[in-house]
Amino acid sequence: MRNKIVAGNWKMNNNQAETSALLSELSAKLPDTEAEVMVAPTYINLVSAIGDLEGSTIQVIAQNMHFAESGAYTGEISADMLLNVGIDTAIIGHSERRAYFGETDEILKKKVVAALQNNIRVMFCFGEELEDRKSGNHFNVVKSQLKNALFELDKSAWKNMILAYEPVWAIGTGETASPEQAQEMHAFIRETIAEAFDVNIANNVSILYGGSVKPGNAVEIFSKPDVDGGLIGGAALVADDFVAIIKAI
Ligand code: PGA
Repeated sequence: MRNKIVAGNWKMNNNQAETSALLSELSAKLPDTEAEVMVAPTYINLVSAIGDLEGSTIQVIAQNMHFAESGAYTGEISADMLLNVGIDTAIIGHSERRAYFGETDEILKKKVVAALQNNIRVMFCFGEELEDRKSGNHFNVVKSQLKNALFELDKSAWKNMILAYEPVWAIGTGETASPEQAQEMHAFIRETIAEAFDVNIANNVSILYGGSVKPGNAVEIFSKPDVDGGLIGGAALVADDFVAIIKAI
């Protein structure tokens, strides 16, 4: 069976002191849950975050990872560097990486392959832009993002994959896909994976929804059968909101 997951993507927010403060508040307020709870602070605070969370079930994950093993890639972080400090999950393909840092499907495919080869669990993000949805092209766009980056993976790779559908028009905008729109797309994603791989893989992969998930809409979104949790941006920066979203799952 697939896991329920609530992950907080902190993006470029919180210095080290703020990271520690938020994590200690989160740890203190963390409800009992069977869901996996994850936080992705910025790189420079990953090590201190792991220290802050010693003994906690909250997992620390990375926001990004480079595909090369090592070398002349100024500003980048390798799989080995993550593993070495105790990080075994990385977000790959976030729409902000695609939009502001030129990450194409081709680059993302390399990152996914490199991560999986190193036993790093991948949280692969994808989703359509507003124009795609308005023109009714959203299913095609999502399918091609999945196909270009993931369809050549071995079936065995899927045990280390998490998918995060994040319609770009809903990220940080306060606008959310309706629970019905989320369910419709998640069911389509599962069907697409079933066709490209098999039904077992499709049924076992967790598919998260991301894009303006808040305490006020989380219950309804998470109640949909193909929505296995959320990737949370803004609301993950406020302990009470993140905790309320964890309770919603
Ligand atoms: P948001 O961000 O919750 O602030 O919309 C979600 C994300 O970018 O993962």
